[in-house]
Amino acid sequence: ANDSEMQLIRIHEYMTDLYHHILMHTKEGEGALKYLEDRGFSGDIIRREKIGIAPDMRDFTKNALSDKGFSLELAFQAGVISRNEENFSYYDRFSGRIMIPIRNHQGYIVGYTARSMDGREPKYLNTPETSIFQKRRLLYNLSDARKDIRKQDEVILMEGHLDIIKVKMTDVNNVIGLMGTALSEQHIQMLNRLASNVTLMFDGDQAGQAAQLSLGADLLEGGLNVFIISMPKGMDPDEYIEKYGAETFRDLVKNEKRHYIHFKAEHLLEESMNNDMAFSNNLKMLTDHLRHVKDQVIRERLIQHISELYKVDRKSIEQNVPDQAAAPS
Ligand code: GTP
Ligand code: MN
Ligand code: MN
Ligand code: MN
Ligand code: MN
Repeated sequence: ANDSEMQLIRIHEYMTDLYHHILMHTKEGEGALKYLEDRGFSGDIIRREKIGIAPDMRDFTKNALSDKGFSLELAFQAGVISRNEENFSYYDRFSGRIMIPIRNHQGYIVGYTARSMDGREPKYLNTPETSIFQKRRLLYNLSDARKDIRKQDEVILMEGHLDIIKVKMTDVNNVIGLMGTALSEQHIQMLNRLASNVTLMFDGDQAGQAAQLSLGADLLEGGLNVFIISMPKGMDPDEYIEKYGAETFRDLVKNEKRHYIHFKAEHLLEESMNNDMAFSNNLKMLTDHLRHVKDQVIRERLIQHISELYKVDRKSIEQNVPDQAAAPS
């Protein structure tokens, strides 16, 4: 980070400590602390992640920063306060929200995702795009997860920030998240440099499934091996851990990984059986995907799965896998 970026980072480091202090040690933080404890977040993890609370005031952050001699113009550029464009007055952006710090790949705090506790919309409010907070370049929790990702040659990608924080309490540490669901070219490049294997573990709802199917194809075409861990219907990793405990969760992570193509073959099976046009399109899509599977053993196994599920001859699948060299993606 250069000098002007470091100035924005310092604003975040200062406010993060302050929000965290208010959460842990003041009356104003009591409600939020209880909320987090009720959701199963330990004091230990709250301290490790420096989770905080932004007081429900219009000018708390503004005053705290100007008292400390920070420029409000810079604080606005950093995205921690907002500006009224009619009279150019500044006011707090995240009032009344639980503050979850977002670190960049070097471990510097560059933004927040901030959750409301009282049903106020939006449920999550993020830092806007700034010179240090660019969603297309950020992978949440990467600075902390990097060592384990390298060691295991696998990254587990999740939807929710609180899911990732809860999962870290189970000692599964190779977990990261996007800021939203958009997967950029930069993300794919970063992931390729980190590991060969990406496991998607999204929410067990319609949105999670759809995101999993779409991101999985992009990652596969981006050169990664992609696996899926399916959540039970209606659950996310956080809720799974609260319901079944850390050990069951660790077993799930260890034992229940299906290859993306296998997952998709099963997902598309029902529609394919009742609809001959869908059958042919889906089979073609699955066969196309196989081109991106370089590992011969895994490819053989996937062909076996598809052949059994769709009751077609293995050879006809093999013959229809497009040539890798002839058809780069
Ligand atoms: P909790 O309800 O606190 O457990 O959060 P969650 O992570 O389970 O939320 P949900 O499954 O509804 O959404 C998954 C992810 O989508 C969140 O972690 C956010 O990153 C994002 N998201 C959800 N709601 C909003 C929103 O209102 N605004 C924005 N920007 N992102 C959201
Ligand atoms: Mn969801
Ligand atoms: Mn949740
Ligand atoms: Mn969720
Ligand atoms: Mn393709």
